[in-house]
Amino acid sequence: MNRQKKIIAVVGATGAQGGGLVRSILADPEGEFTVRAITRDTSSDKARQLAAAGAQVVAADLADPAAVARAFAGAHGAYCVTFFWNHMSPDQERAEAQALADAARTAGVQHVIWSTLEDSRRWVKLDDPRMPTLLGKYKVPHFDVKGEADACFRASGVPTTFLLTSFYWDNLIHFGMGPKAGPDGRLYFALPMGDRPLPGIAAEDIGRCAHGIFKRGQEFFDRTVGIAGEHLTGAQMAAGLTRVLGREVVHQHVPFETYRALGFPGADDLGNMFQFNHDFADDFCRARSVDFARSVNPRLQRFDDWLAAHAREIPIG
Ligand SMILES: NC(=O)c1ccc[n+]([C@@H]2O[C@H](COP(=O)([O-])OP(=O)(O)OC[C@H]3O[C@@H](n4cnc5c(N)ncnc54)[C@H](OP(=O)(O)O)[C@@H]3O)[C@@H](O)[C@H]2O)c1
Repeated sequence: MNRQKKIIAVVGATGAQGGGLVRSILADPEGEFTVRAITRDTSSDKARQLAAAGAQVVAADLADPAAVARAFAGAHGAYCVTFFWNHMSPDQERAEAQALADAARTAGVQHVIWSTLEDSRRWVKLDDPRMPTLLGKYKVPHFDVKGEADACFRASGVPTTFLLTSFYWDNLIHFGMGPKAGPDGRLYFALPMGDRPLPGIAAEDIGRCAHGIFKRGQEFFDRTVGIAGEHLTGAQMAAGLTRVLGREVVHQHVPFETYRALGFPGADDLGNMFQFNHDFADDFCRARSVDFARSVNPRLQRFDDWLAAHAREIPIG
């Protein structure tokens, strides 16, 4: 009976992380949860599809804390994620995280999953010259502000799981990171990671892991957990791409300074991010356990699984 089910309110329900969670809960009709999908526009095609698939769909913009609190009312759990790349403002992201934490407390939510990342300044102090300080007080703004915002959830008193996510392999499709043709006819996959491994994941699996964490509940209250589908070097990813595309794909390391200077919005933030992921790869990988991810999501995909399903969607430049 739907009435007896616990509601999981999902921020970003029409997007990558939240969408995976919504689909995972809807695919488990005998499970203990029902889903409330939060969107800014309940009339969009994606929102209508979620409603048709059985989700309750409600409107809230993270810029409107009162609307977020209404959207969380009566929910057992809340999946909280912020959208840095829509505005690229750490101040806005911090305010939105605070609004989410406040709304969860006001609504009496019993379990929050906060989609977070490391505050890189724990590893690289602001006066460390190896990478530039950005916006006066960050090294990797879109990481640092999420890590900083962990404190908002701790202070809220709401039982929270701090979920460290990984690089989406879907960036090869949606973020312009697919292989590009070189003058020699070979394809080049640019990933500024040198020979260090990068934890990656199929974006869909983030929500599936979150579903598994909500199911096990109390075990993960006030804990930080990290997930990945695999930890792969650029060369290993290029080999996977070669197998599936039937054309040689060569991994290309891009020097961090070069990446930072590419000139697109956020290039400096991402250049610092790759350098942080590279220089502290042991810590970064250790914090994202493939075994843990599989324990909460037995369908966890490896890179080859993701490629088998999505290679045709990767734009080849
Ligand atoms: N790309 C990566 O490799 C990666 C890896 C780890 C972490 N991340 C982090 O993931 C976060 C983004 O998550 P995502 O990829 O799931 O996002 P996404 O796919 O871009 O989805 C965003 C969804 O959230 C909704 N949304 C956007 N702004 C909103 C607002 N102000 N209020 C309420 N809803 C809003 C939008 O839905 P409507 O239009 O329906 O409202 C949209 O469908 C970023 O902060 C990024 O740093 C990314």
